[in-house]
Amino acid sequence: MKKLIIAGRSNQPLAKKICQLSQNKWAKITISNFFDGEINVAIQDDLKNQDVFIIQSTCPPVNENIMELLMICDAAKRSQAKSLNLVIPYFGYSRKERMSQLGEPISAKLIANTLQIFPVNKIITVDLHSPVIQGFFNIPVINVSTTELLAKEFKKLRVKNLVVISPDIGGTKRARNFASLLDAPVAIIEKHRLASKNDKIKLLNLIGEVKNKNILIVDDLISTGSTMAEAIRLLKNNGGKNIFIAVSHIVVPSEVKKTLEKMPVQKIFTTNSVPIAEEDQFSKLKIISLAKTLAQEID
Ligand code: R5P
Repeated sequence: MKKLIIAGRSNQPLAKKICQLSQNKWAKITISNFFDGEINVAIQDDLKNQDVFIIQSTCPPVNENIMELLMICDAAKRSQAKSLNLVIPYFGYSRKERMSQLGEPISAKLIANTLQIFPVNKIITVDLHSPVIQGFFNIPVINVSTTELLAKEFKKLRVKNLVVISPDIGGTKRARNFASLLDAPVAIIEKHRLASKNDKIKLLNLIGEVKNKNILIVDDLISTGSTMAEAIRLLKNNGGKNIFIAVSHIVVPSEVKKTLEKMPVQKIFTTNSVPIAEEDQFSKLKIISLAKTLAQEID
């Protein structure tokens, strides 16, 4: 039996493609905002006894997109859907999966708790910042990896004499996975985020050899681009040659264009987990679609 796909407003192009490829049914839904900003949702299809898949990236505007997802979940539950499944290609707040100091929230856990007020059967997401977040849920969380997808594209460039870089210690495993697919060594940058200044970072040490080597920096996400910009400077100062980037999510595409377009980078490989408007694309950016992979997970 066909499943019913309900898409929020955050990433409609990806949702439509997933629906086409999985040959499921696109549900009619109207989503609007009242004058005061409150969201209103109206699902026109009959959901009774249907397997429902709600597709929503919780990318910027993060809080709006989360609230919209909750509204759709509530509407679907009240319409007696047989099962409620969430496809969250980019999972907002995933960077805050632990307290770095007393007095902070564990935002990812709060989001997990909030989603679980609904009878959600399964969550499909992509490259969570930390796999620990899977454990915040008491339901199956399919954490789709983009490593093979991105590495396959990068391989087409046939770059020799390569080293794979993780721009922080937490990303070492991801870098090792890329490195084993690309048959290359790994180097690691030690990064420090200034707790008082949310997005400000300081790069401390480079562990490994990059002199005269081509470089692939891999990370789960680029938000402002400041980590990447600092990493590129450090790697160039240490004698790195051509620099490439593979990143699962570009969270704020307009900022990334501003920060990275003019930097000495050959190519940036990413996915469409967050929609990237035409005006935020640039020639160095190669976007690889997640539609087929996510369609397969739904089927
Ligand atoms: C951090 O732990 C993440 O893996 C990214 O490195 C980071 O969030 C990127 O943020 P920005 O682009 O703002 O430096």
